[in-house]
Amino acid sequence: MSSKSVQKEIEKLREQIDEHNYRYYVLDDPIISDAEYDALFLQLKKLEAAHPEFVTPDSPTQRIGAAPLKKFAEVQHAIPMLSLDNAFTDEDIRAFDQRIRDRLKTSATIEYCCEPKLDGLAVSIRYEKGHLVQAATRGDGATGEDVTENIKTIRMVPLKLRGEAPRIVEVRGEVYIPLKGFERLNAQAEKKGEKIFANPRNAAAGSLRQLDSRITASRPLEIFCYGVGVVEGMKLPATQRGILQWLAEMGLRVSAFVEAVKGVEQCLDYYRRMGEQRDKLPFEIDGVVYKVNSLAEQEKLGFVTRAPRWAIAHKFPAQEATTTIEAVEFQVGRTGALTPVARLKPVHVGGVTVSNATLHNMDEIKRKDIHIGDIVMVRRAGDVIPEIASVVKARRPHDVKKIVLPKHCPVCHSLVEQVEGEAVARCTGELVCPAQRKEIIRHFASRRAMDIEGLGDKLVDQLVDERLVASVADIYHLTQEQLENLERMGEKSAQNLLEQIEKSKSTTLARFLYALGIREVGEATAKQLALHFRTLPALQAASEEALQSVPDIGPVVAQHIANFFREAHNREVIHKLIKAGVHWPAVKAAENLSLAGKTFVLTGTLRDMTREEAKERLEKLGAKVAGSVSSKTSYVVVGVDPGSKLDKARELGVEVIGDEEFHRFLKKYE
Ligand code: IVH
Repeated sequence: MSSKSVQKEIEKLREQIDEHNYRYYVLDDPIISDAEYDALFLQLKKLEAAHPEFVTPDSPTQRIGAAPLKKFAEVQHAIPMLSLDNAFTDEDIRAFDQRIRDRLKTSATIEYCCEPKLDGLAVSIRYEKGHLVQAATRGDGATGEDVTENIKTIRMVPLKLRGEAPRIVEVRGEVYIPLKGFERLNAQAEKKGEKIFANPRNAAAGSLRQLDSRITASRPLEIFCYGVGVVEGMKLPATQRGILQWLAEMGLRVSAFVEAVKGVEQCLDYYRRMGEQRDKLPFEIDGVVYKVNSLAEQEKLGFVTRAPRWAIAHKFPAQEATTTIEAVEFQVGRTGALTPVARLKPVHVGGVTVSNATLHNMDEIKRKDIHIGDIVMVRRAGDVIPEIASVVKARRPHDVKKIVLPKHCPVCHSLVEQVEGEAVARCTGELVCPAQRKEIIRHFASRRAMDIEGLGDKLVDQLVDERLVASVADIYHLTQEQLENLERMGEKSAQNLLEQIEKSKSTTLARFLYALGIREVGEATAKQLALHFRTLPALQAASEEALQSVPDIGPVVAQHIANFFREAHNREVIHKLIKAGVHWPAVKAAENLSLAGKTFVLTGTLRDMTREEAKERLEKLGAKVAGSVSSKTSYVVVGVDPGSKLDKARELGVEVIGDEEFHRFLKKYE
């Protein structure tokens, strides 16, 4: 290839990658798979490595961070970065709206731009002629820190703007870490024995303000843009909504939840709707922001010292609160793992009352230096179990008590053992411990395992306590009489339960393997095992080496599986289950499956089955079920109220099949 055509090829690849980035991050509408994207990226990297003379600072490959700095340079904000006044009640917001109408001397309805308020840190990113030249933190609002190299590592921040860019534009937005990224970051830190971040906000600040931007590059930072500072060489849109629209057109990421509304009541309605979404969002929001939409009106309203008169933050109940640890108890799980649980003085956090928090394991207690009697910061994020974020050491009472791992299981009194190098302590009473047995049975009966409807937590407790069920095989020998004699169990419900137990006998190998509760064997692994070995005897006979040839199974999981089947007791239970009538259809070899190699995407509500069911049936036929439509998708199955996936399918010319057709399709291949 001539040097000219290499350069052309490099430029073409960059354009493609930028375009796909834009579709992915800004439009949330990718048209290629991650693998295809990675391939493009790799190709660009290879070409640039062979031709370093063509590497430019705004190539997508240049997001890896630079050599560490001694300290951050200062950046003056020509237009200060303001903060917002906070409000907590509907009345506060109505008063805000009234103040605005008074100041504007109008009784007309004010139009507001409503936006989610993300909890991260504010940055200002300066583009000159469309190229990213500088990025700064907010600092004290007037002077911030130069974090250009750090910001450039965030993939969703364009290094070059799309379309016609003004001479200068300073984009303002919030850099944050999504909840999944936060968990991952802390899990890694825990493994390495490093400091844990108390919340995603601290994690974002700690990640962005790294003198070594190569560290920043490894952190899952994201951004939403919500405004502008200095803009030169272009007339601004007339509204805040218009500005956000314009930012998105230039390739900047703007929240999809932005809405322009009329009047204060619609603002409050937005607040309630966002409040309902809050726990389901992949990132933390601490409230919403209302901004007077018209820039002309904004200008008339002006500022007071540090905040604009035309905007206000309407905060949600805090997701952190302090309370006292009153006691610590140890719970015994399915594998005998002892989990310390803190009993808390009940406290309101993020709109719910919290009275328990998991302490995970003894290492965690040691690292966070938690004692009984301590005053702690409790956090709940999304719909996960509340956690102790940190101890308020400054307020530690003098009489706190150390938390000690019990020597004996609190349930069966067997010895507790802590394996060298492992964080978890386990009860050694595997077969005798009712707590372990209960958890094993619960898991076995759970919906995604053997799916025995009606065999709930309370009933499992009763069955084990009354010694009617010791191992999962005993479930299949329960009688009407035994069940009827249980408290709160009538003739009818006993009959129903027996029917459900009978129904559960007909299952799949994958479900059965998952139901056995082998350590580290989740649903996905169970499916892989079933597909690979196809029969139970083949799996039972497999060596650790053979097990490791299954996708995603490493030495640790292989060992767990082999150990499980080596255990005589486990073999006996399996034998009993099969003797009792548990069975499954033969598993076809992957290459013989009728839909092998086909990829499906499901959208909308299907009429007579859940998406989960549809997925399971398709997978049984060897098909893959993907989350987004790409050129590789074979079929898009459309139910009631389909989403944008349908549009995408049409755009890409992917075959679309409806509800009824899908049924016929399954019938035919099953
Ligand atoms: S506007 C002049 N919009 O909240 C207006 N801020 O408490 C200044 N924030 O420093 C900010 N989401 O870090 C605005 N949609 C949003 C926001 C937002 C989060 C942060 C930002 C600001 C702080 C003010």
